[in-house]
Parts: sequence; structure tokens; C-alpha cells
Amino acid sequence: MKALIFNFNASNSGMKKLAFLLPAIALTFFVAAQSPADRQKAETLLRQMTLDEKIGQMTQVTLGVVGAPEDGVLDPAALTKAIQDYKVGSILNVTNHALTVDQWRKVQTLIQDEARKTRLKIPIIYGLDGIHGQTYTLDATLFPQNIAMAATRDPELAAAVTKVAAKELRASGVRWNYAPVLDCGRQPLWSRFPETYGEDVYIGKTMGAAVIRAYEEDGLKNPTAVASCMKHYLGYSASRTGKDRTPIYLPEIEMREYYLPQFQAAVKAGASTLMVNSSEINGTPVHASKYLLTDVLRKELGFQGVVVSDWEDIIRLHTRHNVAATPRAAVVLAVNAGVDMSMVPSDFSFFTLLKEAVKKGEVPMSRIDEAVRRILILKARLGLFDNPYPEDAAAANFGRPEYQTLALQAAHEAITLLKNDDGVLPFTSSAKVLVAGPSARSISALNGCWSYTWQGNDERWYPAGSKTIFDALRDKLGAANVLTTATPGFDSRDNYDTTTLKAAAAGVDAIVLCLGENAYAESPGNIRDLALPDQQVALARAAAATGKPVILVLTEGRPRFITGIAPSMKAIVMAYWSGRKTAEAISDILLGDYNPDGRLPFSYPRSMGEMVLYDRKPTEDIREVFNDNSGGGYDPLFPFGWGLSYTRFDYSDLQLSSDKLDAAGKLTIRVTIKNAGNRDGRHTVELYTHEHYASITPNMKRLRAFKKIFLKAGQSQTVSFTLDKNDIAFVNAQLHTVTEPGDFDVMIGDKTAVFTYR
Ligand code: BGC
Repeated sequence: MKALIFNFNASNSGMKKLAFLLPAIALTFFVAAQSPADRQKAETLLRQMTLDEKIGQMTQVTLGVVGAPEDGVLDPAALTKAIQDYKVGSILNVTNHALTVDQWRKVQTLIQDEARKTRLKIPIIYGLDGIHGQTYTLDATLFPQNIAMAATRDPELAAAVTKVAAKELRASGVRWNYAPVLDCGRQPLWSRFPETYGEDVYIGKTMGAAVIRAYEEDGLKNPTAVASCMKHYLGYSASRTGKDRTPIYLPEIEMREYYLPQFQAAVKAGASTLMVNSSEINGTPVHASKYLLTDVLRKELGFQGVVVSDWEDIIRLHTRHNVAATPRAAVVLAVNAGVDMSMVPSDFSFFTLLKEAVKKGEVPMSRIDEAVRRILILKARLGLFDNPYPEDAAAANFGRPEYQTLALQAAHEAITLLKNDDGVLPFTSSAKVLVAGPSARSISALNGCWSYTWQGNDERWYPAGSKTIFDALRDKLGAANVLTTATPGFDSRDNYDTTTLKAAAAGVDAIVLCLGENAYAESPGNIRDLALPDQQVALARAAAATGKPVILVLTEGRPRFITGIAPSMKAIVMAYWSGRKTAEAISDILLGDYNPDGRLPFSYPRSMGEMVLYDRKPTEDIREVFNDNSGGGYDPLFPFGWGLSYTRFDYSDLQLSSDKLDAAGKLTIRVTIKNAGNRDGRHTVELYTHEHYASITPNMKRLRAFKKIFLKAGQSQTVSFTLDKNDIAFVNAQLHTVTEPGDFDVMIGDKTAVFTYR
């Protein structure tokens, strides 16, 4: 059972009214792909449904409510109670750990059999968290976490891995995925940072939209597609303390500039569902915010799909947030604010309370009908009325060998080489190395959260044949050339023994030191400090003291401080949590069988007091100098976009089609890139702009476009980008998205040019 740890807030935070203004911007409404037949199906049913049947559709329970303690086995009496008595319309999750495809298909079949026995035979919609591949099916292919996918700067690759996740979910009989996370990773302490696409809005928008299209574009009736769920709307990642589900204070101008655009792009890309932020913004829990859930989401963004609450979050308006004096008041608040389905999920309280509230006139029938209509349309779009059972055609799409190749490609493209002094990497094929550190013989520390279990840290459930970094290096260099002082498991005491490490280093050419974080998800991943644990720092110092070159390999979900040890490391490889093939990809890069091309999707901070992001403001960039000897404000250990290669890419001939851009026009920007080294390689060309003066202090840099290319050694290519006024817009003091006349720098590589917008 998923055990969520949370702190009850003793004081009543009070319900502050959001004094937000609705910006008067023109709206582009995306009409979700709802066919007239699907809408008709929903209307016909709606006319026949009783209040209980409607409220049941809005109720979602977790598998544990209908399952016996043993995973994958249902309790027939509990199933009947949920589906017949409470008429629940949706079930989610697993109990303890991933199930086999066959177990899933049986579970889904039994559930839909039960639904067929109900008066109107409305099928159940089942949802799972396939966060980086299908988390909860044994042997499913796990890919890099979003933070690592952002490092690939490759939306097509992100789409390709998403298609596999969709197929493996659908093969398991599941048609609704709670992904992608679109929260902007601007608070690296946050335990869900690895689930984000990092600190930049444009990367988040681009990757998020590509992934949503990949989930849904085949048409939801097709066994290769699933309904996506953009989450967690809105501002969830901006917690002030970095602790999961703690208060967010977010001025609306910041919300609209950095957190809303990803959801706006996702709605346009056709996302069918949305999950709500469990936390509060400016004192209003988002589950109670009619402003965000109805005014902004429905009226402004034009979203037509289903809004599902997050885990237990409706009742928590009463128990945790203290904005509803009774459990029923909590239900009334959330449903009236715009939540269509309640992830209750452990009992039927929502059903009972909502029924009472409707009878008392606290929730209008029109609101119930609206929510149920959306849920039924989604079920119709997914083909559940035609065939709710696991499809035969979908089964063949599970576990295909080519998915492993794709997983390796994704890990290759994610891994980011941060430092490589004196070209210590790549190793020669005759190198003799010592592999040490807690993640040297760990599998969970390479995969992270949502990996066969919620926390991802139980290695019993990983596929046989999953490799550790030690295994993968031994495969390449031969057992005789790879020594280790590490023992299996991240927390094993031996892994931190500096004496054995020093002794074992005597006969080797280099030390591969594997540090970072073991898997965690959500609140259990809360930390008080980004500092790397002392034991790991001690290991790094001991390794450096041997005098052997130390290659630091980081497998971590968020940037832990390495400022004190970085200077004594010869090379630093950021491997993130890159999924099933992390170890193989690391060893390919260490040996030069793959030329690294990942680019940091966040600024790797130097220290707690210097958490400045790349798109900082002028006064963060150049500080007032008196009494401050700390220098420039943006001084991370490694900047956003950083990433080395074994070859060199030279930029030349930056050319603009004009030095002016007007409101109706487009500007074409060309630049030539040459692979000036002697190895082939991929490379991401990034285009940034900076407006010199504006009514709102301009960002020093904003990423506006990127393109990933492949160049053979010696080869050149001209890359072109097109910008229009929307690409250089910002949110002004009136909360309107505007482009103001002025001069702009365009920055690509080490080249810059200027144009004027008028
Ligand atoms: C998480 C969601 C997830 C849900 C269902 C919640 O605790 O915040 O991201 O989709 O559980 O597992």
C-alpha cells in the first residue's frame, strides 16, 4: 500500500481569496478530439443515470480497496461492493509492486467483468503512473527520468520512448497514464525534481507537448495510445521549502511566466486529462481554487478534458489544509472549484459525502453532469464501451527487443559530461580501474523513483539482467581489469570504507567513483540540505588522496553539492537516473564507445546561498558591489546548458535575415557549426535571446529554440531557426503576454547578434 508521509498543519492557514485578475488575452481554444459519436454516447448515458451512478463515476479507488493483500489477486466481495454498491467509475495503482503482464490482464478482465454486471454496463477506467516507462509492469522498459530526457534536448527521442510506455501500459490492459509531469524544476531541493524537465520553460513546453502528442496522437481507441495526464496543475514544484506538498507562494506574474506555459502547450497538444497540485498557492489549496481550475484552466486555456484530484487531496482540504470545517465541506469546495474525479482513494467517503451535498443543494446537478459527461466522453474516446478488455493486438507490443536499444540510446543522449581535465576520458580499452562508491553495485540508484515500486528502491523487482556500473565496466574491460570495493546495494556499509578503497587503488590506472542518491519518490525523498552526505564526501577525498585520477560518476535525481570535491576530480559524469541502460551507457561513455552529448537542464548550484537560475534578472547577474565580494550572481558550479564532448564544435557565420522584426514578421537566424575534432558526435545548438530594456526587468537569457544535429568529424552544417514575436514575449505587470519594442541580443554558442523589434 502506498504510504504517504505528511505533516499535519496545526494552524488554520485561512482561506485567502486569490485576488488574481483574468488577463484579457485572446484565447486559442483547442478542441480535444471528441467525435460526435463519443459525445452522443455520453449524453445518452447521462440521461439514463441515477444520482448514485453519476457520483460513482466521479469516484476513484485504489486497487487495495478491491484487492486482497497479495498483489494481483482481487477480492470478489470487495470488487462487488465497489462496483455494484458504490458504482465506482475508476480504479488506480498497484498495492505493493509491479505485476506481470498476465496478472495485469487478469486484474483488468475481472474488473471489467464486474462492470458489465452493472445496470448500464459502464466500463471502468484504470490509471497507473508510468512515469519513465511503464513503472508497474514487471520487465517493462524503463527509460531516463524526465530530468535526464531534458538533457537529451531531443523531443523526437522523448516521443519515441513515450510510445513504448504507452504500448506497454496498453499491453497490460491499462489506458490511462498519470504522466507527464509538467512542473517546472526551479527548486532543486524538491524531492520530485527528477520528474521535471528542469528549470527552463521552453524545454518543459517542448518536451511536454511532444510527449503528450506521442501518448495520444494515434487516437485513443488505438492499442498503441493511452490517455495522458498533465500534472500537477499548477505550481506544485515551487514549494518554498523544497519539501513535497508544502506551501507555495507564487505571485501571478511568476506563475504565468514560468509555470503556466507548459500546461497551455499541453492543452494545445491534446492532453485529455489533468491532475491537480496537492499543495496550496498563496494560502489557497489548488484543489479548492475555482480561479485556477475553472477560470484559468477552462475559460482561458480552453481545456475540455477530465480533472482528477491527486491522492486523497479532497478530504485533505479538511484534514490537512484546514480550509473546510467538515469532510463534506471539503468535497463541496473541490467539486464546485472544478475537480471532476476524486482519487479518494482508500474508501467510499467521497461518494457518500457528495451525495449528501447534492441532496442539500450544496453542489448543483449541472456541475455533476458536467463532470460525468467529461468522464464518459473520455471512456468513449478510449474505446472502452466497444471493448473494455485488454486487447490481443496490444499484448504483442510488450517487451520488444528494440525497446532495449531505444533505452540505451536515450541513456547515451542524456548522460552529461561535466568535466574532463587533460582528456582523462575516454579510457583506453586496456585500462585497469577500481569501481567504488554506493551506486557502483546498485540498480535502484540508476533508475530512481517509480521503478517497479513507487519508491523504486526495492531491487527484487527489477528485471533479471539489469546491470550495475561495475557489471557494465567488467563486460568491457574484462574481469581482471575491473576491481571493486563496493558490495551490492546502495546502503551497504562496505561501500563507504575509505581504508579498503585506498588499498585497492594501488594497482589501478584510475578510480571510477559512483556517488549520488538512491531512489526515492515524493515526500520520502525530502531532504534538509542539498549537501552530498558526509560519508560520500569522505570517500571522494580518500579517492583523490590516492593520487590516481578519479572519475566521479553521479547518479542522482537532483544536484547534490559537490563543490568541495569537484576540483580534485579529474572528470565528472552526470548520469542522472537514466533507466534500464544507465550502466551500459556510462561504460560506453567512459570507454569512448559513445561520444557524450547531454546538456544540463538545470544550473548545477555551487552552494545553498547561490541558487540563481540561468534566466536570472539583471540585479541577480551583476550585484551591487560594496560590501559584497561574492562576485557575479550567476556563478553555478556548472551552468545550464553545460555539457562536454570528446570532439569540438566551432560556431561561425551567425546571420539574421534582417536586423528588424515586426509584429507580423518572422526572423530567420542561421549559424554554421563545424565538428572541428576527430570524433563524430551529436550536438545541441541552443538559441537564447535577451532584451536590453523592458517594462518588466528582462531575463539575462532565455532559451527560445534548440536543434540537435549529428556531425561526422570534420563536417559542417548550417542550422536555421525562425522566431516571431511570440517567441520573445513575456508577462507584463498587467499579466498580459506581450512583446515590447526594443533591442534584443541573439546568442548561439559563442556568437551574438542584435535585432530590433518594433
Ligand atoms: C502523486 C501523483 C500520482 C498519484 C497516484 C500521488 O501521490 O502525487 O503524481 O499520480 O499519487 O499514484
